[in-house]
Amino acid sequence: MKLTYLSHMGFLLDFHGTQLLFDPFITGNPKATTLNPDDLNPDYILVSHGHGDHVADVESIAKRTGKTIISNYEIVQWYGAKDLKGHPMNHGGKWQFDFGYVKYVNAIHTSGLPDGSYGGNPGGFVVWNEDSCFYFAGDTALTKDMELIPMTCPKLDFAVLPIGDNFTMGYEDAVIAAKMIECDTIIGCHYDTFPYIEIDTSKAIQAFKNAGKKLLLPKIGETITL
Ligand code: NI
Ligand code: MN
Repeated sequence: MKLTYLSHMGFLLDFHGTQLLFDPFITGNPKATTLNPDDLNPDYILVSHGHGDHVADVESIAKRTGKTIISNYEIVQWYGAKDLKGHPMNHGGKWQFDFGYVKYVNAIHTSGLPDGSYGGNPGGFVVWNEDSCFYFAGDTALTKDMELIPMTCPKLDFAVLPIGDNFTMGYEDAVIAAKMIECDTIIGCHYDTFPYIEIDTSKAIQAFKNAGKKLLLPKIGETITL
């Protein structure tokens, strides 16, 4: 699997040949100036919640590509009113897509949409097929619900966790999250985009190392192989 970091919580994952785009935020992102949302050609667009720093480029990419938005019911309805295709989910439910299973799992956060519409409750995604499984947490606090993931999903190969603090858990709590989800390879995100979420990345890397885990922090636009 190849994972390209698009800054903040935006990722493009080549999942065994299917391009999955998560939470694209390039337009208006002060750190993503070298990227262009028009270059992204996903097969599916997964949206964790309604905040502007997660949905900024969803509409333009979905309109241009005609591809399906996977998110919670309210967000899919909101895009549906704009004639965009979606697959609605809600917490605890899974669905088998052509590339594998997606389960929409709990997150502790909020989810208002950019125009003030109700965005349902925020979530994360666990995605798997017979070969691989990963967890994309979305914006969330540390929550005991994370312990349900290893109980109900295949063994995780990696997880994408927020580490920037203030709006989500910080890296200290993300280390505990990594233990709860029983995962040793973590990709950190949702940090350093704005002053509120600036962190000392060397301390974050050390905190994971101390727990016997690996924190990967790809550069913006960098593609890593997992
Ligand atoms: Ni948010
Ligand atoms: Mn956010």
